[in-house]
Amino acid sequence: MRLYDSPLCLALLALLPGLVFGQLSGSVGPLTSRSAKAGKKTCNVLDYDAKADNSTDLGPPLLAAFNACKAGGVVVVPSGNYALATWQTLSGGNAWALQLDGMIYRTGTAGGNMIFIEHSTDFELFSSTSKGGVQGNGYTFHAQGSITGPRILRLYAVTSFSVHDIVLVDAPAFHFVMDTCTNGEVYNMAIRGGDHGGLDGVDVWGTNIWIHDVEVTNKDECVTVKSPASHILVEDIYCNWSGGCAIGSLGTGTNISNVQYRNVYTWSSNQMMMIKSNGGSGTVQSVTFENFIGHGNAYSLNIDQYWSSESTQDGNGVQLSDITFSNWKGTEASGSARGPIRVICADGAPCTSISISNFAMWTESGSSQWYACRSAYGSGYCLRSGSSHTSYAASTTTVSSAPSGYSAPTMAADLKTAFGFTTSIPIPTIPTSFYPGATPVSKLLGS
Ligand SMILES: *[C@@H]1O[C@H](CO)[C@@H](O)[C@H](O)[C@H]1NC(C)=O
Ligand SMILES: *[C@@H]1O[C@H](CO)[C@@H](O)[C@H](O)[C@H]1NC(C)=O
Ligand SMILES: *[C@@H]1O[C@H](CO)[C@@H](O)[C@H](O)[C@H]1NC(C)=O
Repeated sequence: MRLYDSPLCLALLALLPGLVFGQLSGSVGPLTSRSAKAGKKTCNVLDYDAKADNSTDLGPPLLAAFNACKAGGVVVVPSGNYALATWQTLSGGNAWALQLDGMIYRTGTAGGNMIFIEHSTDFELFSSTSKGGVQGNGYTFHAQGSITGPRILRLYAVTSFSVHDIVLVDAPAFHFVMDTCTNGEVYNMAIRGGDHGGLDGVDVWGTNIWIHDVEVTNKDECVTVKSPASHILVEDIYCNWSGGCAIGSLGTGTNISNVQYRNVYTWSSNQMMMIKSNGGSGTVQSVTFENFIGHGNAYSLNIDQYWSSESTQDGNGVQLSDITFSNWKGTEASGSARGPIRVICADGAPCTSISISNFAMWTESGSSQWYACRSAYGSGYCLRSGSSHTSYAASTTTVSSAPSGYSAPTMAADLKTAFGFTTSIPIPTIPTSFYPGATPVSKLLGS
């Protein structure tokens, strides 16, 4: 309930249950303020045998502090450097918070999840200085040719929560996964990983979740929605040398609806937005992607239902319908190699009601670009109209002049060279803008 922390506003909000933003279905975030939780109880890990000496294992003290504060209170990891050798599952909390002002360095080598928060309600994970976080030092795994190490942070079956003002760095595997969560808000985060696939930034599935003002550097998922999901709003996202945002990959029984991405800036990534599957079944419907700016990316708008990196799933294809792309601007790396519009739908489940409008992108190299569609119906570019939705082979339209109005701003801080994969990655500070001209919804707590 970050926007409305005062009791008066909470009371007013309770009178307005229909008040929702964008694609959300209700209010998001913790139900109790940080100060009210702290007023009830504070459990400082230093009082549970933690040491900010960057070598004593924080794991057992963190669990002990959690057990003492999980029924309503704030677990505090004060500023300083901590080592994490043993992964912790923090299960069954209610009306609690984890104030992570310190920096946690991974020293353990087990798989799984370094910090796993599950079955919690009314939860907040934050840094009061905007400087706390986790340094996963994944490069020590990656230098040995392995991306099978631990993920940094996983939330499972958490409801009415927020995660904000923390940095997650160099995960051995994924950085942040929200699995089957509801009524969540994620914001003011910087995620910086190695320049390689398999190091996802944010993966989310669940209901009624608002993710905004997040920066991701890696070479895999930026902010990606997986199935099942509904009422997910993703906005003001800076994919600063990443894989790019996506929905997928999708398998059998896919059920995704009411997803909105807006104000997404993508630089030097695999794509600006991808919907990816290979076979599978179920539906993706009522999804909008608006106000996208891209520069230096391989693909731009890319629906690929024959995605070769995914093994073929059972089913004739996931049915995509009512998917809207509007106001896309900028440039792609090579429009003749990878055109800016690619809508390759499953022949066994042609896409319907796809809309592409106000789309102006142009190539950074060469003098032509292409648009390609297959088994895709709707309006705009190579999409076919009509009410009979039969499959058709890919058709490509090549254009040799730039569309008007494609030029779009860049972010001054675009990463010029990738971070390594086998060398240490520096801890970033959280930026104060995630989309050209936009200021974050909430100020950084540490500002
Ligand atoms: C903490 O220890 C890790 C090794 O576990 C090291 O990489 C890091 O530089 C140390 N941090 C500080 C601030 O000394
Ligand atoms: C799909 O998700 C929606 C929204 O959560 C839900 O109401 C519906 O029952 C789900 N459908 C199936 C077939 O699971
Ligand atoms: C983008 O990444 C580069 C390298 O990490 C960094 O210097 C820059 O600050 C990032 N941009 C923002 C807005 O944080």
